[in-house]
Amino acid sequence: LKYPSSSGSFKKDNVTRRLPHAIIIGVKKGGTRALLEYLRLHPQIKATGPEPHFFDDNYEKGLEWYRQQMPSSRRDQLTIEKTPSYFVTKEIPDKVYKMSKRTKLIVVLRDPVTRAISDYAQLADRRPDVKSFDDMAFIDNRTKIVDTSWAIIKIGIYIKHLVNWLEYFPLKQIHIVSGENLIKDPAHELRLVQEFLGLEPMIDNSYFTFNSTKGFPCFRKQVNSSHIHCLNRDKGRSHPAINPSVIKRLRDFYKPFNSRLYQITGQNFGWT
Ligand code: A3P
Repeated sequence: LKYPSSSGSFKKDNVTRRLPHAIIIGVKKGGTRALLEYLRLHPQIKATGPEPHFFDDNYEKGLEWYRQQMPSSRRDQLTIEKTPSYFVTKEIPDKVYKMSKRTKLIVVLRDPVTRAISDYAQLADRRPDVKSFDDMAFIDNRTKIVDTSWAIIKIGIYIKHLVNWLEYFPLKQIHIVSGENLIKDPAHELRLVQEFLGLEPMIDNSYFTFNSTKGFPCFRKQVNSSHIHCLNRDKGRSHPAINPSVIKRLRDFYKPFNSRLYQITGQNFGWT
């Protein structure tokens, strides 16, 4: 039997668009695309393609607009989207809470220094005339005072952003993925994410293969398929060489914030 839905279209087997059960909220350049594409391999996960940017850029369009951005799913499936800017935007935890306080949150975190260089590499790709990394990272290159107003630096102060989310959501509702581990051992990180989402672990080692040309894991979309799929060329760019003294200065800068993050989350990400 087919029943007309409230919007006038026909629902089949309860297939309909649903607001996300879980959101990958960050961080930019953490490995968010890889995680979303891996999660999509699970038969009980339906994920958006593009980033909806609902809570930052399209909030005034309303929840019905947001729902329309989601793929159709069956009742036994989970809907997931990823928009990495959510993690660093102050007003968003409140907005997500107002949508549903049960929303599960996932964050992929990566060494903030490498993340900054990755972000800069992307910026330099898009704007070849951009100033050098050193010129941007410090208020003045002589004193080497870190410019915390530069978004590329600010994003990496993870603990500062995380506490905004913890005002609304308990830590157990926020799953943190190690971006480094997601490259080294994707199946392990995926097992933890599937557990967090309450799903039967289906995405395992048999899906992944390390591609030495790309330098990253690639994956099969079907477990018995011979076709191996890698992410696009804009994922896994080469990074510019940065002066070791600059790296050291940034490592020192992030150190106390990282320590606090390890303390609050009970996870040591091993960034030194
Ligand atoms: P780099 O391009 O600096 O290496 P995001 O999708 O959040 O923008 O993250 C991009 C980062 O994902 C890449 O940064 C890369 O390090 C990481 N990554 C993780 N797994 C990957 C994979 N299988 N293929 C390509 N990049 C991957």
